Amino acid sequence: MQQKVLFVCLGNICRSPLARALFQKHLEDQRLTHHFYCDSAGTSAQHAGENADPRTLKNAACNGLVFKHSARQFRTTDFEEFDHIIVMDQSNAYNVLKLCSDESHAMKINKMRNWDIEMPGSNVPDPWYGGEEGFEEVFRILERSTLSLLQDLSNAYK
Ligand code: 4NP
Repeated sequence: MQQKVLFVCLGNICRSPLARALFQKHLEDQRLTHHFYCDSAGTSAQHAGENADPRTLKNAACNGLVFKHSARQFRTTDFEEFDHIIVMDQSNAYNVLKLCSDESHAMKINKMRNWDIEMPGSNVPDPWYGGEEGFEEVFRILERSTLSLLQDLSNAYK
């Protein structure tokens, strides 16, 4: 059975699109694409329809990762559709929880850095107001956290 993973941040133009693209790359590298479907969303509708932030795209390209994106807002039907809802920070977790009326759905919500061996459980910092180094830091955090998430979720196939 295919596992469905949704990455969530605030605007869906910086962190969660990158998390999805990195998770997809790990899937391709490990030939696991047929076992998973992944997508990303933002709790805000402010940037719906936009490509990822140019600074995110530039930093990803410098790290050899090129991807396409169109931002969308998180919707309550995502609770039904996805098995895992991976939020980037605590405020995303609160915003998603506010929309959740079912305990079994709430159990699908987890923080991205619960899979980060460096500072587990902390927030993926929002790079929006900072400089280029913030985008590089987010890339490094998401590269290792998404790999660790995949290792965890793919145990069933090994
Ligand atoms: P994201 O970053 O949640 O990682 O996509 C942000 C994008 C836009 C804004 C804030 C954070 N904004 O305030 O418009």
